Amino acid sequence: MIGILGAGALGRLWAALLPADQVGYLSRPEASLSGQDVDYIFESISGEEHPIHLSPITPETISVLLVTTKAGDTLTALQHRMPAIPLRTPIVLFQNGLGSQQSVAEAWPDRPILAASTTEGANRPTPERVIHAGLGKTWLGPMTPSGRQCVEDVLRVLKQTGLELHAEENILTRLWDKLIVNAGINPFTAILDCPNGDLLESAFFQKHIGALCREMALLVAAETDRDLSPEDLQERIRDVVIRTARNTSSMRADVLRGKPTEIDFINGYLVGLGKKLGIPTPVNQLLTEQVKQLSPHSE
Ligand SMILES: NC(=O)c1ccc[n+]([C@@H]2O[C@H](COP(=O)([O-])OP(=O)(O)OC[C@H]3O[C@@H](n4cnc5c(N)ncnc54)[C@H](OP(=O)(O)O)[C@@H]3O)[C@@H](O)[C@H]2O)c1
Repeated sequence: MIGILGAGALGRLWAALLPADQVGYLSRPEASLSGQDVDYIFESISGEEHPIHLSPITPETISVLLVTTKAGDTLTALQHRMPAIPLRTPIVLFQNGLGSQQSVAEAWPDRPILAASTTEGANRPTPERVIHAGLGKTWLGPMTPSGRQCVEDVLRVLKQTGLELHAEENILTRLWDKLIVNAGINPFTAILDCPNGDLLESAFFQKHIGALCREMALLVAAETDRDLSPEDLQERIRDVVIRTARNTSSMRADVLRGKPTEIDFINGYLVGLGKKLGIPTPVNQLLTEQVKQLSPHSE
């Protein structure tokens, strides 16, 4: 069986598109032993509605696990479930940002751990409804040595959804690219409470984006082998702001719903990395602190 750990917006998207008889979800440990069946309406990218029924499964039966919890919940969620999951089961991490993937790989270095970077977009406007809001692409690559042997098998399983998937040997590079864009958009939209496109008119964004990109360019150069100029990073961020002008970022959405954000795994990750490498990151620090003040549940 294909298992979903974290049956939220993204987990329910994969669950809806995989063959119904091959997929189930892992309930929260505090739920009753068997958990409850989950029913929801799935709105496909073309607007069609499909009723989806998802049953709880036991960890012992899982042949591929898709982990779609938020970054801050991932390690704890896996710690509860990992002992009962077969040793050869690939564990696929879908979290945005960086830091949670490395923590999982360090905790279970002998297991096949993979990370995914996806531009699919899913949201859950009500508990019983999941919308596939944006068609994207997903890249999949290994986080541990034994993960490398599983990439093709996992791709075969996930391609049953009809979504576009690719192998990515250097998945950390892919995750870095997404982190840079998220770090340059998400906290600003959360602090300013605005859709992405409004950033270009914002004095606060204009004041800080150049220095933020200089911090990120130094971190990328020190942590990876890539030499990306601050101007290049700023251009990438600007491109995405323009292409997604009407969108609400996930961080703004989390703040609006009073939920914890993933700031610790985006700008907060960059602050931690800067401390480790001796690179000052005052703008990342400022953004992290301001977002944390907006989200009472953040640690
Ligand atoms: N949504 C997207 O389009 C999208 C796209 C790319 C990447 N991502 C990334 O994917 C991750 C998930 O995003 P999302 O939007 O799907 O978030 P979400 O809707 O909040 O889903 C997370 C789910 O995990 C569940 N959960 C938390 N702790 C758990 C545990 N210990 N055991 C079992 N389930 C647990 C939550 O349950 P409760 O509902 O009970 O809290 C929630 O249903 C994030 O890192 C996000 O950045 C999302």
